[in-house]
Amino acid sequence: MDAAIKIQFSKLLISWYKENARDLPWRETRDPYLIWVSEIILQQTRIDQGLPYYLKFATVFPTVQDLARADLDYVLSLWQGLGYYSRARNMHKAAKMVVEEFHGAFPATYSELIKLPGVGDYTASAISSIVIQEGNAVVDGNVFRVLARVFDIDTPIDTTLGKRQFKELAQELLDEKHPGKYNQALMDFGSVHCKAKGPLCVSCMFNESCMAYRLNKVDVLPKKQGKQKIRNRYFHYFIIKSKKGLLMYQRHHDDVWQGLFEFPVLETKEELSLEELTQLDAFKACFGDRNPLLLEGNIKHVLSHQRIFANFYILGGEVEPDILEKYQWRYYNSEKIAKLAKHKLIFSFLEKHRLL
Ligand code: ADE
Repeated sequence: MDAAIKIQFSKLLISWYKENARDLPWRETRDPYLIWVSEIILQQTRIDQGLPYYLKFATVFPTVQDLARADLDYVLSLWQGLGYYSRARNMHKAAKMVVEEFHGAFPATYSELIKLPGVGDYTASAISSIVIQEGNAVVDGNVFRVLARVFDIDTPIDTTLGKRQFKELAQELLDEKHPGKYNQALMDFGSVHCKAKGPLCVSCMFNESCMAYRLNKVDVLPKKQGKQKIRNRYFHYFIIKSKKGLLMYQRHHDDVWQGLFEFPVLETKEELSLEELTQLDAFKACFGDRNPLLLEGNIKHVLSHQRIFANFYILGGEVEPDILEKYQWRYYNSEKIAKLAKHKLIFSFLEKHRLL
C-alpha cells in the first residue's frame, strides 16, 4: 500500500478519536488485569450491556488474586444475564493460572496472554496494544466494516482468507507509535460512526477517500459468505420412570427429529454443570428442586449444520400433571417404546440400558 494513504488513514482516525473517544472506565487504567476483564466481557457483548458487569467485576474482584480465590459458582452468579458462560469459567481458570504459574503478575505481552484460556488473537492484541503499546492490530466486527468500506474489500469476512486479509491490512495500517489508540479508535469509529445500519457518511472524514462511498457500495460491505455455521446444541434428557413405564413425547417443533420420540428434554446453548442445570428456571418449573443423576454425558451426535451434545440423567419422583399436559409427556411401557420411532441418540441409550 501507498505509504501516504497508510499514514493519512491512521492520522485521520487518531484525530477523530481525540474528539470522539468514548468515556469508558477501563480507559482510565493501565492495569492489564482490569483491561482483560473489560475485553472478555466485551467479546460477545455490546458496550452498554457490558459496562455494569465490568463495574461489578472491578469492584468485587479488584485484583486477579481476588478473582482466583473466589468460588466459580459465585463468579457465575455475577456473570448471570450476560450469556456465553464459558467466558466466566475461562476467566476463573485464567485467574488461577496467573496466580499459580505467573506468580500473580498479570501478563501484558501478546505471547503470554495468548496462553490464557479464553484469550484469542483479538483479545491478546487488544490488551497488549492498550497496555504496553505492542504493535498488534485488532480485528473485530467494527474493524471489518470500516476497512471493507474504506478500501472496498469484497472478500467475505467469515472465511479464512477474509480473516487473514483484514488482519494483514489492519496490521499494515497500524500506527506503530500509538497501537492502543489506533485499535480503540478503529473500534470506536466503526461502532459510533461507520455503523452497520445508518452510517454517517455525509459527515465522515473519509468520505473523500472511502471507496465504498464513491462506488455506492456502503450498504453491501462487508460481505459474508453466508454459509450456515455449525451450531453446538446441548440436550439434557431426563429418564423418568413410573409403574406405567418411561416418560416420552413426540418432537413436534420445526426442528431436528420432527415427529420422533424422545425423553423429556431441556436444551441449552452451552455445556452446563449439574448445579447450573438445576438452577435453570426451565428445570425448576418442570422438576422443582429435585436432583438428577447423570447417567451418561457428552454424547456427540453430528448433523449437517449442528453438533448435538447429549446428557442423560435419571430423575426420581412424580411430575406434576399440568407439566405432563403442557409438554405432552406420557408414560410408555417397554412394549410400546419398542414400537415408537426414535432417533439414534434415544435408540442407542435404550439399547445400551436394556430398556428395549
Ligand atoms: N470493543 C471491545 N473492546 C473495545 C475497546 N477496547 N474499545 C472499543 N470497543 C471495544
